[in-house]
Amino acid sequence: MEDEARSRLGAAEADAFLTRLETLTFDITGPLGRLYGDVTDVGKLTTELVLDALEAAAARPPELRRLDRRREIDPAWFQRSRMIGYVCYADRFAGSLRGVREHLDYLVELGVSYLHLMPLLRPREGESDGGYAVADYGQTDPRVGTMEDLGDLAADLHQRGIALCVDLVLNHTAREHEWARKAVAGEPGYREMYLVYPDRTEPDAYERTLPEVFPDIAPGSFTEVPGLGWVWTSFHEYQWDLNYANPAVFRAMLRTMLDLANRGIDVLRLDAAPFLWKRMGTDCQNQPEAHLLVQAFRALTRLAAPGLALKAEAIVSPDLLAQYLGAHDRFRPECDLAYDNQLMVMLWSSLAARDVRLAAHALSRRRPAPAPTSWVTYVRCHDDIGWAVSDQDAAAAGVDGPAHRRFLAGFYAGDFPGSFGRGARFQDNPATGDARTSGMAASLCGIEAALAAGDPGGLSAAIRRLESMYAIAFSFGGIPLIYMGDELALRNDPGWAADPEHAHDNRWMHRPPMDWAAAGRRQDESSLEGRVFGAISRLARARRSLLALRAGGSTDVLPAGHPSVLAYRRAHPRSAPFLSLTNFSDVTQSADAEVLARAGLHQPVLVHSSTVPSDTVPSDTVPPGTVPPGTGRLELAGGRIELPPWGFAWLSGT
Ligand code: GLC
Repeated sequence: MEDEARSRLGAAEADAFLTRLETLTFDITGPLGRLYGDVTDVGKLTTELVLDALEAAAARPPELRRLDRRREIDPAWFQRSRMIGYVCYADRFAGSLRGVREHLDYLVELGVSYLHLMPLLRPREGESDGGYAVADYGQTDPRVGTMEDLGDLAADLHQRGIALCVDLVLNHTAREHEWARKAVAGEPGYREMYLVYPDRTEPDAYERTLPEVFPDIAPGSFTEVPGLGWVWTSFHEYQWDLNYANPAVFRAMLRTMLDLANRGIDVLRLDAAPFLWKRMGTDCQNQPEAHLLVQAFRALTRLAAPGLALKAEAIVSPDLLAQYLGAHDRFRPECDLAYDNQLMVMLWSSLAARDVRLAAHALSRRRPAPAPTSWVTYVRCHDDIGWAVSDQDAAAAGVDGPAHRRFLAGFYAGDFPGSFGRGARFQDNPATGDARTSGMAASLCGIEAALAAGDPGGLSAAIRRLESMYAIAFSFGGIPLIYMGDELALRNDPGWAADPEHAHDNRWMHRPPMDWAAAGRRQDESSLEGRVFGAISRLARARRSLLALRAGGSTDVLPAGHPSVLAYRRAHPRSAPFLSLTNFSDVTQSADAEVLARAGLHQPVLVHSSTVPSDTVPSDTVPPGTVPPGTGRLELAGGRIELPPWGFAWLSGT
């Protein structure tokens, strides 16, 4: 290997590669041995994979090598408080990848330093689950541009200090993918890339314990394919699950990852990571082997492209989530980033209930993210909200789990008098009463309802809800993501069902096209867009200056002395403690000033607070609206801290 590395990379790069190989050896051979030791010669497989990594390292462009070098010196690059994400579909945001390049000033203005573009590799034609059915990993969707456009965009982003994240749909391919077509044609070696059964015996046995992902729109987990048999299809019938028990599948996907890394991608979002390995008698999610696969991918991609980070999309029970960040009995490097789905669910739950006790309980008992990793925090995304409230957490907070989940789905569908939500149920299951929720943040938090009712007071309250939820996403610890359109309070897309490819899937209501006319009003603070854009960009500015908000520190939920007030402390060894207080109710509430001492704040300074005035409370009784960072004083009233309706306050020690 040494000679090979020297001849392919030159002395200096070979030295770096070989040093990485030395430090990563155990992270490569450990998982591969456990995954494939029974089916193949692991020594030979390891050599092949390391040679693949070497080939990719040799092909890595010089500017990406420089980025690698910087990130090897600063491995916490993605943990900084300056990291602020934006998520969009390239075509919906700007027509194409080239179009995105023309709107980078907009992202910079918002404070963005991380751009996640939704699936953009060539999908099957027609319905494609929003691009999550890939027909070719080596090409982009021709409707958004070419691989060269992608590389040019990545280079432009890097110049502005913005990292680029794209989706890697690795659990399944489209049935139109070359591998699937060859499997149908009977070409040797291809049937084994998928999970195919001759009859229903095994599928029936698996289905006894398999939950359905889309019970409404794609029931069952297997699809009969003439000439082939029953194919495992966890999602839609046109998305065929790959067989990761076959090392050839692992190798092919690794090569895809390395190729994308060399195009300038900084972060790969590993779609549906929990589904990668199946085991009879289980729900076929979160299997130990799924973690081993990700660990092996991580180590081998690090070898060739140390600047690349992996992000897990694992929408699973909170107890299992931190494992995707490597939190096993010992730390095993796995993904660098993972979605904090639980925080998102708890925000919406607290908002509907005007009560944070469930959130405080659930968020305080979970496993923290390992120090070298980070959560990705968010308010909304392109998927539905699954009401993942565990019965155990609900009971501890004095709530009935099933009833609370039904309440949330009903509340956000606007079913109850007084509900401000204007979303819709997704995958409604009348048998269990369980349903998920679709809708844009602005529609769920009351902006749509207040606009329809012509209610200015209601509108202010709704904007304050949105600002406060984003304030939590920006300060809970992790990379906050702004979901395209939230910064302008874009509501549900009224035309989503007109497209026959989308009509069966109401998640499209919260995937509207960008409204550049609305964006044009973003500097006008008397407009809705100006109020919201201003609020979110101020959050970004405040966050950037607060070291305590960088990932890698700890978050502790604290008792605040009121059921509607959520309090948490962020601590980082190199910074003064930080305290966030948020009032989840329609009226002024006060927190017990004791919370300051609990957070370790003895001379607290108000560094940021709600900037959208409340119509119901005169501004002189609340922490002043726009306190410049670092100079605010905190008003105490009789040993209590007053928080205006739906208001938040960020406090820092000195
Ligand atoms: C992920 C995506 C979702 C998609 C599914 C199947 O969960 O976020 O939109 O339907 O994977 O690829």
